[in-house]
Amino acid sequence: MSRQAIICGNWKMYKTIEESKSFVKSLAPLIEPSQALVYLAVPFTAIKAAADEAQETPIVIGAQNMNDISEGAFTGEIAARMLKDAGAAFVILGHSERRQIFGETDEFIRRKVTKAFQEGLEPIVCIGENLKEREAGHAHDVLQKQLEGSLPTLTASQIQSLVIAYEPVWAIGTGKVATAEIAQTTHQFCREWIKSKYGPEAASAVRILYGGSVKPDNITELMQQPDIDGALVGGASLQPDVFSQIIHY
Ligand code: 13P
Repeated sequence: MSRQAIICGNWKMYKTIEESKSFVKSLAPLIEPSQALVYLAVPFTAIKAAADEAQETPIVIGAQNMNDISEGAFTGEIAARMLKDAGAAFVILGHSERRQIFGETDEFIRRKVTKAFQEGLEPIVCIGENLKEREAGHAHDVLQKQLEGSLPTLTASQIQSLVIAYEPVWAIGTGKVATAEIAQTTHQFCREWIKSKYGPEAASAVRILYGGSVKPDNITELMQQPDIDGALVGGASLQPDVFSQIIHY
């Protein structure tokens, strides 16, 4: 089965509404035609404006986080249906910055993934080991635990729209990209895990993105790996010209 690649920008806590609109306007003419789907995870405040601006373009707008509850007294939180209402089509869940800085657990992330599916948002579920874990030779154990803990039991159709992002924590924002070989081996491990749980068809359908210091000069080699189906791009997604070079890997 051929999997369509996804190149997803994760803007993190960058860009105002005006900056987001102008980014989408500049990026759109730079990406057509593109072999990959182009996703942008923008700040909550910019979702509506970016989605409106992206309407006549292939750019898909999404969010970077959400709560698993439908509504209620949860000051400062945001619900899946609010994201949908604003125009988000997907949501990043369990990013390492959420896990590390805001203490999100596998259990919480699993509830969010369940909710995202219920509300029709495509989840991009992030996993990744830190440097100490990799150096101790425990990377695969850590990833397996995160996969087991963060993913609910999925139906065949949910598997089709599930996206996993492998983001080694030591490669995020550090300029230290995982070698294509490390990334490939790790992606293969994740796909094998999916296969052992859901069978070969599911394993060949799931898309696994790589994230961590992806740049125009390393994307080509990463995308040549058979189990790398795209990228989750932080810093290099903030400028349309740089991001478009990654899209045209
Ligand atoms: P950088 O591309 O800035 O390393 O960030 C990666 C990331 O965290 C994407 O979600």
